[in-house]
Order: sequence, then C-alpha cells, then structure tokens
Amino acid sequence: MLTLIQPDDWHLHLRDGLPMKDVLHHTASRFGRAIVMPNLRPPVAKVADALAYRRRILDALPAGSGFEPLMTLYLTDNTSPEEIFLAKRSGFVHAVKYYPAGATTNSDSGVTDISICHDALEAMSECGMPLLVHGEVTDPLVDVFDREKVFIERVLSPMKRRHGKLKIVFEHITTKDAVDFVNENGIGATITAHHLLMNRNALFSGGLRPHHYCLPVLKRECHRRALMEAAISGNPKFFLGTDSAPHSRSSKESSCGCAGIYTSHAAIEFYAEAFEEAGALDALEAFASFNGADFYGLPRNEKKIALVREEWVVPESYPFGDETLVPLRAGGRMAWKVAEE
Ligand code: NCD
Ligand code: ZN
Repeated sequence: MLTLIQPDDWHLHLRDGLPMKDVLHHTASRFGRAIVMPNLRPPVAKVADALAYRRRILDALPAGSGFEPLMTLYLTDNTSPEEIFLAKRSGFVHAVKYYPAGATTNSDSGVTDISICHDALEAMSECGMPLLVHGEVTDPLVDVFDREKVFIERVLSPMKRRHGKLKIVFEHITTKDAVDFVNENGIGATITAHHLLMNRNALFSGGLRPHHYCLPVLKRECHRRALMEAAISGNPKFFLGTDSAPHSRSSKESSCGCAGIYTSHAAIEFYAEAFEEAGALDALEAFASFNGADFYGLPRNEKKIALVREEWVVPESYPFGDETLVPLRAGGRMAWKVAEE
C-alpha cells in the first residue's frame, strides 16, 4: 500500500455539457484540484467565461465532492492587459494558456505570433499570473517529431529572455530537449502519464493505434527515459499534469482522427505504475502532490489517498454524452488501484 497527500492534476481537459459530466467524476475521485484547460468552442477567453464554466463544473460534480477546478484563460491576439489584471483579481483564474494557432485540438483562436501579446505577457509578469505553453511550432515544414525542439529555439528561448520575470509552465513536455531547457532555465513543466509509459512505437504496435495519438505526439524511447528521469529527479519544477483529453470513439477512430488520450479513469494509478517501473515510488508524492501546488503558490492538500496493489481491468469504453470514449489501456490490466475511503 502507498499513502500520498492527495495529488492535483495541473493540466486537464474536461470539455463541457453532458460529456463533461461523464468524465469529471474520474478526476474528482482522485485529485483535489485540477488546472482546467480553456480550449472549448468558443474558447474560455474572458474572466466572465471562466466564471460561467467554473459554475458548470461545480454543478456537474458528484454530491459531496470537495474537488476544486482551477480556471484558465485562453490567450488570443486580442487579450488585453486589463483582462489579465481582472483575472488575477478574480481569485479563481490561476493561469493563461498559450496555444500557437493551429497547433492542436480547438486552437484556431490561438496566438498567431506571440510578439503581438507582448503587453499581456508583461501584465502577467507584473501580477504573477503563470503562462501555460503548448510548446510546438506549427510550421508545416518542420517534422512533426521536431516541433517541440524547434519551438524551444524559435519561441520559448526568446520569450524567456524577453520576459525574464514571467512564470512559465512548459506543458506536457515530450523530449530530452525540453527537460534540459527546464533544468537550465528554472521554469515549470508538466509531464503526462502516457509520455512516461509509452514511446512512439505504441502508435504503430500491430497496426495503427488512434487511441495512442495525442499532441505533442509520443517520441523515441530516449526521450521517454529523459522524462522519467526528470519526473523522479526531485527537481520541484517538474509536476503532474495528465493532459487527459477525452474524445468520442467516432472522432478518434476516423480517417482523420482527433489528438488526445484519455487517462483520467486511472490517472494516479498510471503514474504509480511508471514510478514503480523506474524503482522510484518514493518520488511520486512530491511530483504528484507537492511540486505543482508550490509552483502555483497554493497550499498543499491535507487529505490523503491510498493506492493498493490490486489488479483490475480497464473497461473497453466509458459513456461520453451521446457517445462513448475509449480510455487508455481499454480492456487491459492495471496493477494499482485507489483504495475506497
Ligand atoms: C488536447 C485536446 O484534445 O483538447 N489534445 C491533445 O492531444 N493533448 C489539446 C492539447 O492539449 O494539445
Ligand atoms: Zn492539453
């Protein structure tokens, strides 16, 4: 048995409406809080949108849940410094998300050129509002497996130099290059469970595997190892962010399938498996329950959760509004289970 201070998920997609109700309880039964991504259609670009979305999340929670959604704003070319200050004052908006336009699911309202956002980023530096970065270039000439590395060179490095005080989280890092950048520059970074557990072979094992497709896409084994080392290193700048991104089965199993892997149904269990495989279960609590809260300047949770070594089989699918979704490891075995309270 493994007892941890209750973890938080620092990068989560909850969607909205009936599909949200079907996935939210998976997160709420494991995590104390989660940073909720704003890439709805239309995006959560204003504090008023975030307030309304937060209310819908709270209304969809199972009775008695103490789960707290931490809201984010979607950065656009038009985000004003005033909106940033308003977000800071709100107390419920905890970060601003930067999607390069066209980089991933629902990112067409994203930023076309980050230099346009100079004043908004300065406002964020001034009031200590973190910028969460989807770190991939969208240049079609850049190989899809190199988009994170090239983003560091073309966008992140210059941004870090220009906005020295800005609090940055490099989201869902997937490469050794990103690990090195985080170590050298002292910015924050989230790491998903699926990037710790799989390399890019998982996209093609025995055939094309749409449920292993996400963005940034899985990388080579040497990168997976670098991520694992970072996660267990004790460097407090690395923390848990699932990037659990539910899509209906039909939108994944398609001639042009959506990017996103669903892991919320077994999130902390997947991380436990990865840390155990690395022989570093004792490093899990800091990564999952302390580092993110410390980075965001929020109190650590007080409640505890227990994980037990008990096999269970992941369902083939879960309900998702009018459709179903296929979770990671559908039909397969899990080694860890969250103990009932
Ligand atoms: C995310 C989604 O589906 O919203 N997809 C993904 O592959 N991670 C968007 C994102 O975080 O890139
Ligand atoms: Zn995401």
